[in-house]
Amino acid sequence: MHILVTGGAGYIGCHTCVQLLERGHRVVIADSFVNSSPAVPRRLQRLTGTAPVVHRLDLRDKTALAALFATYRFDAVVHFAALKAVGESCAKPLDYFDNNIGGTIALLQAMKAAGVRRLVSSSSATVYGDPESVPVPEHARLQASNPYGRTKLIAEQMLGDLCQADDGFRVGNLRYFNPVGAHPSGLIGEDPGGIPNNLMPYICQVAVGQRERLQVFGDDYPTVDGTGVRDYLHVTDLARAHVDALEYLQRADRNLTVNLGTGRGVSVLELLRAFERASGRVVPYEVVARRPGDVAEVYADPTLAEQLLGWRAQLDVDAMCRDAWRWQSLNPQGYRSTGKPMPAPK
Ligand code: NAD
Ligand code: WQD
Repeated sequence: MHILVTGGAGYIGCHTCVQLLERGHRVVIADSFVNSSPAVPRRLQRLTGTAPVVHRLDLRDKTALAALFATYRFDAVVHFAALKAVGESCAKPLDYFDNNIGGTIALLQAMKAAGVRRLVSSSSATVYGDPESVPVPEHARLQASNPYGRTKLIAEQMLGDLCQADDGFRVGNLRYFNPVGAHPSGLIGEDPGGIPNNLMPYICQVAVGQRERLQVFGDDYPTVDGTGVRDYLHVTDLARAHVDALEYLQRADRNLTVNLGTGRGVSVLELLRAFERASGRVVPYEVVARRPGDVAEVYADPTLAEQLLGWRAQLDVDAMCRDAWRWQSLNPQGYRSTGKPMPAPK
């Protein structure tokens, strides 16, 4: 298939491009690079031997988008492009509505005009807010608890309405839990600008010596050790699910909404210990107050993804930590690094 990947230079997008290329699909990336590096396409070429076609554009630029759809005959779109920082979304909700919802509307309009009617879209476990029970199935109550989460929920609802109105439009909503890790080559990985918001990149930066210590946000939750529990998922497992979902839309000709997680909850301290084992480094930490808006425990019921897609996560927390560390240690400055191994600690 010929696939348009919006946000394909980003963390999950570039891992998905690798798998699309490896499974014989043709890929065009559209990305504004608002949160990614222009070095990514070169790394993808090194990794796969194929230079992906890249168009630098903002999805809200309707003229550029129409030109893109006029240039290629896409069979389907995988839509990653969005802003994703929860805290920033609380400070700048209108920017998030404009970029994430505005970008999605512009994309759908361009798809409709060009007659492209298959879409796999990035959703998130954030659509469950604070779930009533775990593991969380797809039919659990949906509830946005911040502006970023609202953009994900609204995108799912818009896509539902579009499918009602257009009988031939097919959508796969993929609700990711907590993607972590990196491609095992160490060539691509997560490269957050500024202070990381998420746990794994923060641990990586402490381990590599860029930050002094991890702050553990609360150890008084009703969980196994008092720290927050999440469903961490290897990004290459997650990437594979997108190709499976595209093939499902083609084969089954039905819409799809599935959780993507391992089904296993892991606490902050459990992840920290696994990372220390994988890296051989000590990761200093201090326990501080809970982070506002955090919930105690969230992990997926991933049964439906297995039933419909034949997908299940294969890689465990040790593999996630090993690959996150390989990426970080080979690229201490992210994509600004040369990719050469760093010296061992003194
Ligand atoms: P990312 O920021 O690394 O990638 C997003 C990419 O989209 C970036 O390359 C960015 O430059 C691009 N982009 C943003 N707005 C754009 C626009 N208007 N036009 C064109 N390009 C634009 O994020 P990611 O972690 O790879 O996340 C990908 C998707 O998955 C997002 O939709 C995110 O909301 C969703 N998601 C991420 C996580 C996570 O923890 N990483 C969890 C659940 C869902
Ligand atoms: C995980 C655990 C923290 C950082 C967020 C978004 C969600 C989704 C994924 C996109 C929690 C603890 C964290 C730190 C810590 N994104 N923690 N110290 O909160 O599950 O989800 O990213 O859709 O929408 O909300 O992930 O990695 O931020 O936190 O103790 O420096 O680690 O309290 O228990 P979260 P996270």
